Amino acid sequence: MDHLHVLVTGGAGFVGSHLCEALLTTGAHVTVIDDLSTGSAANLALLADVAPSTESFRFIEADIVEGLGDLPGIDRWRFDQILHLASPASPLDYLRLPIETLRTGAEGTRHVLDVARRHGARIVIASTSEVYGDPEVHPQSEEYWGHVNPIGPRSVYDEAKRYAESLTMAYRRAHGVNTGIVRLFNTYGPRMRTDDGRAVPAFVTQALRDEPVTIAGDGGQTRSLCYVDDTAAGILAMARSDEPGPMNLGNPQEVSIRELALEIIQLCGSRSELVQVERPVDDPQLRRPDIAKAQARLGWEPAIPRIEGLRRTIDWFAATGIASASAQPESLPEALDAPHRAGDRSVTDSRLTH
Ligand SMILES: NC(=O)c1ccc[n+]([C@@H]2O[C@H](COP(=O)([O-])OP(=O)(O)OC[C@H]3O[C@@H](n4cnc5c(N)ncnc54)[C@H](O)[C@@H]3O)[C@@H](O)[C@H]2O)c1
Repeated sequence: MDHLHVLVTGGAGFVGSHLCEALLTTGAHVTVIDDLSTGSAANLALLADVAPSTESFRFIEADIVEGLGDLPGIDRWRFDQILHLASPASPLDYLRLPIETLRTGAEGTRHVLDVARRHGARIVIASTSEVYGDPEVHPQSEEYWGHVNPIGPRSVYDEAKRYAESLTMAYRRAHGVNTGIVRLFNTYGPRMRTDDGRAVPAFVTQALRDEPVTIAGDGGQTRSLCYVDDTAAGILAMARSDEPGPMNLGNPQEVSIRELALEIIQLCGSRSELVQVERPVDDPQLRRPDIAKAQARLGWEPAIPRIEGLRRTIDWFAATGIASASAQPESLPEALDAPHRAGDRSVTDSRLTH
């Protein structure tokens, strides 16, 4: 039987692991490349569990910045699709890893595009609503070019993604690679790290512990939150299409940070109170996607209402998330350990124990 072969960079991360899970459950064969810098070995263990066979999932531990051309096993399978998600993504991560973030967006993306070119694969790269910066138009459609501070602390992420988009379009024009760009807006759900600096996991953790819930400034700034299953479905729809994008993927339902915090406190049945903290530099005031293009071209729109998504997220954090709050396991679980550590860039040839 012919299987769809998909390479997912960043598959050990939050969005990437949900994508891989969706792919594996539809019978695709999945290869993950990840350096585990912000992803988790627990996510890989979960994927090994859901994979229908030992052949259908393999993990290659590698930093995409270092190059992928000579990576053992990379060309053993011919990839039909590549979903490129590898990048530090949460503000705490990219502020902690500024140079790595820029290099991952630039050199890393080039290496992944080269694999797509070699394999004749359809490649979808995960860009971000941060390319719009602190937007002057609202909601943001793909035609808006953005309002980004190129030298502020957040610029390492915003400009890395803008460069990655530009490089992707150059590969399409110069080399005829079948590329697609999705601009993901804030996504939330199970498997987020409690300590990654993003609003939903921070609020949920604080509320479940009955600790003060800390909102930046007066909390009047808005966000649009998309449940991760919806985001994953949008990325997969983009991968199946030949659309070049960029394509906004997000939930246009807007909520203020204050309202979100209060909803979470209520859903958690918590006694937490709201406390204001200083707003970060260049924190966007308004953020809402215009998703008309994705609706028209992909037939995609989010299906999970916010309250339902928050319930599922809170349930997951209550059951597991807080217990694994320190988030970054020091070592791989046994099934993934041993001969395949990053240092020698060797391959977990995916004979993962189930
Ligand atoms: N989660 C969101 O709300 C959101 C919003 C917009 C865009 N995105 C984009 O989606 C993608 C995934 O985000 P996420 O929230 O799942 O983040 P994440 O940090 O959970 O996942 C990113 C993964 O990439 C891996 N990685 C980072 N640098 C790497 C490198 N140089 N080589 C190999 N692997 C590397 C990490 O170890 C991690 O597993 C990112 O590209 C991000 O920019 C996410």
